Order: sequence, then C-alpha cells, then structure tokens
Amino acid sequence: MITQRPKGTQDWYGSNMHKRTIIEGIARKLCKVYNIKEIITPAFEHTVLFQRGVGETTDVVQKEMYTFEDKGNRSITLKPEGTAGAVRAYLENGLYAESQPTKLFYITQAFRYEKPQSGRLRQHHQFGVEFFGSSSPLAEVELITLLMEFMKELGLKGAKLHINSIGCKNCRKTYNDALLEFLRQHEGQLCETCRERMQKNPLRVLDCKVPSCKEIVKDAPRTIQYLDDECQSHFEELKSMLTTMKIPFEVDTGIVRGLDYYTKTVFEFVNEEGFTLCGGGRYDGLIHEIDEKQDIPAVGFGFGIERIINELEAEGVELEPEPTIQLYVGILGKEAKSSAYQLVHKLRNAGVIVETDYMDRSVKAQMKYANKIGAKNTVIIGADELANNLARVKNMETGEQTEVTLDQIADLFL
Ligand code: HAM
Repeated sequence: MITQRPKGTQDWYGSNMHKRTIIEGIARKLCKVYNIKEIITPAFEHTVLFQRGVGETTDVVQKEMYTFEDKGNRSITLKPEGTAGAVRAYLENGLYAESQPTKLFYITQAFRYEKPQSGRLRQHHQFGVEFFGSSSPLAEVELITLLMEFMKELGLKGAKLHINSIGCKNCRKTYNDALLEFLRQHEGQLCETCRERMQKNPLRVLDCKVPSCKEIVKDAPRTIQYLDDECQSHFEELKSMLTTMKIPFEVDTGIVRGLDYYTKTVFEFVNEEGFTLCGGGRYDGLIHEIDEKQDIPAVGFGFGIERIINELEAEGVELEPEPTIQLYVGILGKEAKSSAYQLVHKLRNAGVIVETDYMDRSVKAQMKYANKIGAKNTVIIGADELANNLARVKNMETGEQTEVTLDQIADLFL
C-alpha cells in the first residue's frame, strides 16, 4: 500500500512527462498569440461553488466529487473541472470591470471519483480556455480555431469536431416539457437516479451512463428542434463562420454535455473510436448563477492532457525527442574533481547540455555510462588536461577526436 499510488492516479516521469511538457508548451505558445492570459486557481474550492456551478443533478456533483470537511468545519471540494474556479476568480478579482473580453487559459489537475477504466482517471489534467464577455459566436469560432491549430501543431489528425445547440433557459422550458412527456412513457425502464432526475432536471437523463437508459434516450426529442429565434440564429451564424473558416464539423444532436452550465453551443472533438478528447461550449447563465449582480456571457473548453497523450500514441505521432546530452565530462583522478566540475559549470552556463561523474567511477566505467545515457561527445579531464589547458573531445558516433583548449570546448557546441 505504502508504495502504491491511489487508483486512477498517475506518476508523471520519463517519456510521458516529456510529452506533457511539449503539449503544455504548445498550449502556452498558442495562447500567447491569441492574447489569452494564464490563470491558476486553487486546487480546492468551497463545495457550494461546484454544486451551484456544475449543477446538483450532474453525475460529477452527485457521484464524483472529492468532498471533505476541513479542520474549520467547512465543506471543501477538490476541483472536478476548471470552469467554476475560473468564473469564481473572474468575479472575486473584479476582472469583469476591465475592458472586455477577458480571455483566460489554465493547465490544471482535476479530481473526479470515476470508475477506473481506460481514459478515465481520478486525477486528470486539462488544458482549458474560458472566454468571458462576448455573446458573439465569433468567441466559439476563436476557441475552435485555437483547438484546430493546437491539434495541428501536435500532429493529431484523427479528431473530428461535433457541434450542437442546447438552447437557452427560454428554449429549455418547451424542450423540457417535450422531453418529460417522452420520458414518462419509459419511466419504468429508467434507472432510479434518472427517475429522480426527471423531476429535477430531465436533460441530465440524456447523459446517463447506464446502458438501458442510454438505449431509451436514443429516441428522445432533440434540443435543436426547440430553439427559439435567437438561439437558432446564433447556431446558424456559428455554422456559417465555421464554413467560412473552412473548419469541418458535424452537427451531432446527441451532444448535451454532462455539466449543467451550458447554454446554446456545445461542442466536442471526438476521435475515430468515438471517444471525446475535448469538450466545451457556451455558458451564458453561469456567471449570473454564481453572482446575481452580474450577467456576462462566456464560452470555454477543456482538453484532457492524458487523452491527448493516448491519442498521440493511437495515431502513431512521434513528438520531438528529449534533448540529448551533448557532452559527458569524465573525471580522471580525485585531484581533478573540483576543477573539472568548474568546467562543467562553465559549459552549462554557456548553454551546453553536460553530464559528469558523481559516483567516483573508473574512467572505463564512466565511458560505459556516457554511452548508456546517449552522450554525443565525451572529454576526459585529469591533471594533464588541466596543466596543459588542452583536452580531446571525442565524438561518440564517429570516434573522431578534436583537440581544443578548455575555454574552446563550449564553442564546439554553440
Ligand atoms: P468535461 O467534458 O467534463 O468538461 O471535461 C473536459 C475534458 O477533460 C474531457 O473531454 C476529457 O478530455 C477530460 N476528462 C474529463 N474527465 C476525465 C477523466 N476522468 N479522466 C481523464 N480525462 C478526463 C469540463 O470539464 C468543462 N469544464 C469544459 C469547459 C470549459 N466548458 C466550458 N469551459
């Protein structure tokens, strides 16, 4: 137990860590040109934020949150997603009072007590963007464009954009009536949670994971048939802009998303196996829900970093390899140790990737080690090299040796 990580968690090291660093680097680089600023919010928030924000009837709030009482008897929850915390921070720090829009991105961990299975972790990581202040579908287009560029830079080709509109509060009333009428006809076959959801929030029945419920809702009325004029024209404008931008998409009327805050547009990027890699949408009512003095539209997405890594593997995409060690500095004799280490320090300061001996190995063992760690070149520094200010740098691939003064070593690599 003591040497076993909790189920559904992962240690980040080696090649996965390297991939994650590249993914985050691309995300940061893209956000910079889109003028999207980074935000980091706490790993935990007051439970009520998620209950109100994500929604009482969602699976996330009902079954998946890591909630506990802290020593001051406050109910605290580890964040199950990034949006609610970003909205809270936007409100608490008065970011809405600055010229709008406010565009924020985050790279965060998220915690959900999910059944461990492929692609579902109890601690996962998301790259997310929240775009506050614009009710124009151009905000959706901006996020979708960024996501297309993000995947292109990563070399991913297999994800397809699916969009839908679930309408606003206004459309939801008529839709809920129609959905309830349909669900009542099948009430006996629905799971207990769904029968409860029917009373409180019938839309949530549509994302129930129980197979028998899934089968029933296949024939349920679709939100898109109940859009009011404004939501309809928003959706039409979005589709027309995507077409102008030559962004391929599919309207998937089955997407409702599992979180309560969405209004109008919802979208997902889905891979060839139908697995969702990224999800997002508009949430024009959430800010008002959290602070009734404000009424600000918003849209955002969350992209699972672990899912990106799985998809890179599935599509056979090789990311840029880890940088190799340019030079191994071997140390000959104890007396040379500190001077040799001074040289290592100087070379590193000059930007050369250098490794050396910390184990007091013999020169032969040091060369074996240099080979093992893939050092491209080696040099041995002993009393002679230090006295004559001359050393031989050996290319490990060709065996070629270059004699240089100690100050010239860095020049070979820069
Ligand atoms: P979500 O669809 O719940 O949306 O999660 C976003 C993405 O996080 C998913 O598409 C998936 O890649 C990843 N993800 C979610 N749960 C897990 C899990 N248990 N294990 C591994 N990966 C997971 C949200 O969280 C919204 N906050 C997105 C958003 C931002 N909407 C508007 N703004």
